Amino acid sequence: MTASTPVLQLTDIRKHFDAVVAIENFSLDIYPGEIVALVGDNGAGKSTLIKIVSGVYAPSSGSITIEGETVSMSSATMARSHGIEVVYQDLALADQQTVYMNMFLGRELTNSFGLLDRKTMISETQKLVDELDVRIPSPFATIRDLSGGQRQGVAIARATRWASKLILLDEPTAALGVAETAKVEAIVQSLKSRNIGVLIISHSLDQVFKLSDRICVLRRGKQIGIRKTSETDKNEIVSMITGV
Ligand SMILES: Nc1ncnc2c1ncn2[C@@H]1O[C@H](COP(=O)(O)OP(=O)(O)O)[C@@H](O)[C@H]1O
Ligand SMILES: [Mg+2]
Repeated sequence: MTASTPVLQLTDIRKHFDAVVAIENFSLDIYPGEIVALVGDNGAGKSTLIKIVSGVYAPSSGSITIEGETVSMSSATMARSHGIEVVYQDLALADQQTVYMNMFLGRELTNSFGLLDRKTMISETQKLVDELDVRIPSPFATIRDLSGGQRQGVAIARATRWASKLILLDEPTAALGVAETAKVEAIVQSLKSRNIGVLIISHSLDQVFKLSDRICVLRRGKQIGIRKTSETDKNEIVSMITGV
């Protein structure tokens, strides 16, 4: 693998639900350390596309390639085994559990006696939240005692712990206030230095222009175009989204 091998290549992806065509002829490459924003109106097909890459839906046709290898992404477990993690807007954490248990939820570390290796889980959690600057009181904090921004920070930290290649973010700041959104944006930005590819869905063009390297526009399932963020502006993107 070279630096120019995309982490993800989608080629001619199509997805229909019976008569409804949700995605038609979608192609996109994402490179290591690149942040690509996926934008479009409600119903454009953005979430469907993320679900295809994360193994929730099988595409009706088309191919998915991870670091040059064509894969069948037939389940969420399979997507995870290929180094792909997803963060949703609805904060999918276990509320009653600690931060460190959430980091390893369903993938707990055990020691040679088969017992939970809490020490390692706690120290790994501390290291990662420090690196990403997720400001939580401690790895022992209970999720329900954290703010929305802190929780989303934990969700992104968890994705970072497990994603070796790609993180998919479906409106990660939709439920957050202004200051919390800024914090989460900073965390997303720091993923670049880890050489992970990022595909982020966002309704906020401010956010899209702040974070992304490229912007991909969908309208009613059609891929309207891809622009380098530095070579476009909000007016162009809005007209691509709305078609006027
Ligand atoms: N499970 C499903 N069954 C049938 N139709 C669906 C399903 N999921 C999405 N769709 C349809 O596919 C289209 C795209 O939806 P979606 O990907 O959720 O759009 P977006 O995330 O851009 O708002 C919509 O017309 C939606 O009604
Ligand atoms: Mg959606």
